[in-house]
Amino acid sequence: MNQLQERELKSQRMEELRRRRILERKREIARKKKRKKLIRKVLISMLLFFAATATIVLCVLLFDTIIKDASSRKTPVATQVEYTQQNSEDVVEEPIEKKEEQKIIVDDSIEYKDETKEERYASYKKQNPHFSDEEIIWRVNANLDKPKYEYDIPVSGYDDPYIIVNKYYKVPDGYHPPDLKSFDGQLLREETGNAYKKMREDALKQGLNIRVVSGYRSVEYQRGLYNRYLSNDSRENVDRYSARPGYSEHHTGMAMDIFGSQDGLRNFENTPEYPWVRDNCYKYGFIIRYLVETEDITGYESEPWHLRYVGTKVSTEMKEKNIKSFEEYHAKYLQ
Ligand code: DAL
Ligand code: ZN
Repeated sequence: MNQLQERELKSQRMEELRRRRILERKREIARKKKRKKLIRKVLISMLLFFAATATIVLCVLLFDTIIKDASSRKTPVATQVEYTQQNSEDVVEEPIEKKEEQKIIVDDSIEYKDETKEERYASYKKQNPHFSDEEIIWRVNANLDKPKYEYDIPVSGYDDPYIIVNKYYKVPDGYHPPDLKSFDGQLLREETGNAYKKMREDALKQGLNIRVVSGYRSVEYQRGLYNRYLSNDSRENVDRYSARPGYSEHHTGMAMDIFGSQDGLRNFENTPEYPWVRDNCYKYGFIIRYLVETEDITGYESEPWHLRYVGTKVSTEMKEKNIKSFEEYHAKYLQ
């Protein structure tokens, strides 16, 4: 090969190389364009997706608000329509609230039901669905639906032989029952004391010895007693065994604490006198006032030694009817 041919070949190769480079650059530019296009497509798709999602969420929220708004506006209108229809004596479904009220109206046939206490019966029944209608009525009559320690006994009731003094009925400071007399060193109302004397004499005939150790107490005396207990015990505990001043049945002169042949109130239950008193005291007009079964009514724990004179008619009826608390008897037959 001569020199001319060699140069010719070299120039051809160079030309070939240059064309390849140009081609390569063109391809590179085409690839870049393609990538950019792809990225743009992806970005646009993402944008569209987010826009669509946001629109759906907005629509759902808007729809929900509209529905809620419409239903809250509908209720009073619907109720109004129902009442209007009722007034015009059309046959309609009664409002739900009214239906519930009707369900808690207590039995009309119960003789000691007091028409003026309808609302209290209904609301007490709502709170105590486990009670029978009879229980609802006497418990409300006995004020058990009211807060404790709020009600003063009206003056007109002070001489009532069936006066009821408990956590719901209070006598005022200075209250003094009539015809107090001393029996075994304790003050009792005359009729109560005489009944006690008779019971004591009959017990003695059986070889049993009962003694009254606490009869009438003034409100002032009870205040001292209650405060003394309070200095050693919590108020919650004391309230279960001692009356607050003004709320003790001892203020009536018709309640008494008794000992048996062994001293001590808490020993009384273990003396032979207790079963005799438990079974026979009604014959003399007494009841054992605080029993285990009546703690939720009286608020006091059992006190087998605390007797209340109610007269033989009431004590016998309570026994016959198996009524355990004076609150129940009073609410049913003495109001
Ligand atoms: N222990 C009775 C409840 C009273 O203090 O009257
Ligand atoms: Zn007592």
